[in-house]
Amino acid sequence: MQKALSLGLLLFLMPSVQASEEGKALFESLCMSCHIVSGRPSVAPPVFGMKNHVIQAYPRREDFINYIVQWVNNPDASRTLMPGAVRRFGLMPALPYPEEQVRKVAAFLYDTELRMPGWYRQHYEAEHGQPLKQ
Ligand code: HEC
Repeated sequence: MQKALSLGLLLFLMPSVQASEEGKALFESLCMSCHIVSGRPSVAPPVFGMKNHVIQAYPRREDFINYIVQWVNNPDASRTLMPGAVRRFGLMPALPYPEEQVRKVAAFLYDTELRMPGWYRQHYEAEHGQPLKQ
């Protein structure tokens, strides 16, 4: 009984674990060359800051994913959530990745707790003039 139960649980969990593994690998190959995970950014906001801005504007998973999917294929300075980053780094180039792959990346980002770089809070508060909500 115990065994059957844990096998059932395992089967239930497996697809999402697999999807997030794939999302992670896709993030690493498609996005991480610009959106770094740690250290000081030089070409684009760090992934922590990018996720933080999108999740504040779109707290629901589905909305978060949809925003990222449409953004990656068609960045638009007039709709940016990160005007400071557009000024500093320039607008993100449109990337013609298949929607299905970007969807997996976005789901991975939503579901993963990212580590905040040590310098980020001070930067955010200077940029936004208000405390970072987390
Ligand atoms: C060639 C470098 C580069 C790559 C690769 C890249 N980005 Fe970006 N991205 C940027 C830059 C620069 C910005 C900051 C300026 C801006 O917001 O357009 C940005 C901003 C963003 C934003 C903020 C949107 C907003 O409202 O301004 C999101 C979301 C984002 N990127 C997602 C992604 C995802 C997901 C991937 C991988 C599928 C990715 N980026 C790959 C350079 C890149």
